[in-house]
Amino acid sequence: MKKEFPKDFLWGAATSAYQVEGAAELDGKGLSQQDVINRERHEKFGFADASIASDHYHKYKEDIALFKEMGFTSYRFSIAWTRIFPNGDDVVNEEGVQFYRNLIKELKDNGIEPIPTLYHYDLPWALVEKYGGWLSREVVKDFEVFAKYVINEFKDDIKYWITINEQSIIVQYWTQKCYILPEYQDNNQLRYQINHHMNLCQAIAVKYAHEAGALAGPALGYAPVYARTCKPEDQLAALNANDLRNTYYLDVYFRGYYNVAALTYLQQANLAPVIEEGDEALFAANLSDFFAINYYDSQCAHACPEGAERAWSGYNLSGKKGDMSGFETHPGFYQMCPNPELRTTDWDWAIDPIGLEYVYRDLYTRYRVPFMITENGLGAHDELTADGKIHDDYRIDYLREHIQATKRAMDLGVEVLGYMPWSAIDLLSTSNGYKKRYGLVYVDRTDEDPKECQRIRKDSFYWYQKAIASNGTDLD
Ligand code: BG6
Repeated sequence: MKKEFPKDFLWGAATSAYQVEGAAELDGKGLSQQDVINRERHEKFGFADASIASDHYHKYKEDIALFKEMGFTSYRFSIAWTRIFPNGDDVVNEEGVQFYRNLIKELKDNGIEPIPTLYHYDLPWALVEKYGGWLSREVVKDFEVFAKYVINEFKDDIKYWITINEQSIIVQYWTQKCYILPEYQDNNQLRYQINHHMNLCQAIAVKYAHEAGALAGPALGYAPVYARTCKPEDQLAALNANDLRNTYYLDVYFRGYYNVAALTYLQQANLAPVIEEGDEALFAANLSDFFAINYYDSQCAHACPEGAERAWSGYNLSGKKGDMSGFETHPGFYQMCPNPELRTTDWDWAIDPIGLEYVYRDLYTRYRVPFMITENGLGAHDELTADGKIHDDYRIDYLREHIQATKRAMDLGVEVLGYMPWSAIDLLSTSNGYKKRYGLVYVDRTDEDPKECQRIRKDSFYWYQKAIASNGTDLD
């Protein structure tokens, strides 16, 4: 007989600090690299910056009331390092700590499990100025001060810590997710060096979470890679891409070492990180407890000749299908490409619920850890109609199919703790401002005009409310 979702299944949704909070320089908060990056993107592309975002800093009680109305039992958010330590050092900003005390209390008072992320792209700007930010191994010491303080401060309230958000996406889109000083931008080895520093921070965060009696795990943007054809050389290219884009990260988190084929490839290409003695021992001593999956799409690859030119992942900044600027290419290893079998979003992201089922099954076999979905969603041009509604049936279809995929995997024994799609409310997209929306709740603002950031329930809000009330059985 098919099992129901467990009674304590965590239903909720997710956001991150700089994408929703705003108040970028209020109550003692220091600037983060995202405040600076998004200011530059505003000037260059006209996208909103992070100064107001969705004004969650002022409206968090209203937002949590909406979460409760939807029936949430969990909420994934992130703690802005720069609210706690404005300069990235050890000088605490009490007002920033108080904001998260209030947020966590409000969630708990409403029966919602707070699931914080320690790091979601927003490194203190002061550390970029001091030593180039993530480029320097010095960042590990400063991160340790932050992680230790925050985990200890909230140890009575937090059961699950998410450590670092989407390291693999940071490697691919490093100048968007990190502020990289122009003189370093041509040195691609630094992509993997930054990632190595993050792996050290990740392990340290796991260590402190364990000392506090909590569980910890990373959130990785995870897209399985299929072969474009059943030719053996394309299958091998897909394996290579999975090793370098996925397993390279997961093996560190759950086994304590770098994947051999991926690391060897990086060494041959002069892209490998400098690894010091004892680093892998630190990973091995602090393995993660669960895997927080951020799942949006699947990917596709084919074989790539030795003589090809190396290329990194492209962008679609327009929201017009087909405007993807390029595909990652590693000569002699693999080349990414569109999957002709799948439909896509307006931003060319493949829509593939079966891919999520594949991920659960594959990773549970390999790592045997519980999962939670900490992002999953459809970025779209939502329209606020004249009568004040948002008819986002495309989002409802997307979420329904991914919840069904989750259930099918669970029916075959995979352990899933919760489902927290992206995003609880509309927020500043990392790539497309407010043109691309993900929320269950509409935030009435545009890139040009923040207006009052009024909250409006989308059709998906009511649909998700029904889905949660029925514990995932009524998805119509
Ligand atoms: C994930 C990030 O990569 O994808 C989020 O963790 C992000 O921060 C989300 O918003 C969607 O990406 P984008 O570029 O459409 O905002």
